[in-house]
Amino acid sequence: MNTVKSVRELRAAVAQARAEGKQIAFVPTMGNLHAGHAALVEKAAQRADFVVASIFVNPLQFGPNEDLESYPRTLLADQERLVAAGCHLLFTPDVAEMYPQGTDSQTRVSVTGVSEGLCGASRPGHFEGVATVVSKLFNMVQPDLAIFGQKDFQQLAVIRTLVRDLNMPIQIIGEPTVRAEDGLALSSRNGYLSAEQREVAPVLYRSLQEMAAAIKTGERDYAKLINTAQAQHSAAGFRSDYLEVRESNSLRPATAADRQLVILLAASIGNTRLIDNLAFDLDMPA
Ligand code: PAF
Repeated sequence: MNTVKSVRELRAAVAQARAEGKQIAFVPTMGNLHAGHAALVEKAAQRADFVVASIFVNPLQFGPNEDLESYPRTLLADQERLVAAGCHLLFTPDVAEMYPQGTDSQTRVSVTGVSEGLCGASRPGHFEGVATVVSKLFNMVQPDLAIFGQKDFQQLAVIRTLVRDLNMPIQIIGEPTVRAEDGLALSSRNGYLSAEQREVAPVLYRSLQEMAAAIKTGERDYAKLINTAQAQHSAAGFRSDYLEVRESNSLRPATAADRQLVILLAASIGNTRLIDNLAFDLDMPA
């Protein structure tokens, strides 16, 4: 695997792969890679001949009181994981390479609709930062397909909308969330949890499963299910940010008639904010 830091080197390496007739798959990341990222890269290696990954902790998508400075940077371990998963080219730009004119004067990409509410409400500017950096990375790499985790369900919806609305010829693939044995969704932020916090964290996914099971057996009083789950979260020491049932394609609040649903949550424990979701189709057998 070749690691490059400049857009010039990136374009040269991708152009060579293209000249060899290769299909290009792209996996953008912020590093501190875990088995969930490895699954995205493995999927990319199955679907294309040349796999490009990026590691860039994007300042544009962090709020003023968020963990930009402390976000874990683990390049050597990440490179090993990427090689093992089948990555061919790693792009690790610094902030000046990505934003040579500075971040303030950078043209922004703003996706309406699916960016609103949920994480869009609690992290103002976050999805604009994501949409902007992903647009730039797509223009730099020009992949045939790009792979994202479904753990960031709203982010995936934002990126699908962006690609559709800006006519980018890139296929977007969403991959299922990889979980620890006790159900906790893998996340770089799990590393912030103390042993006690890590022990109680599976309550989040457990409650999503219980809510989904109740909805599948006919319960449509979403507010009641949300209250029960939030009581479980707060008993475990979590502060709820949001917990909502939405229609999974449009991300609008779910009605009792909707069949494709996703339950999404964000909750904090100590200084760590975790997100998770569970999507299901009432017309599909479990
Ligand atoms: O999901 C992430 O790691 C980031 O939001 C992404 C898509 C790499 C953009 O910085």
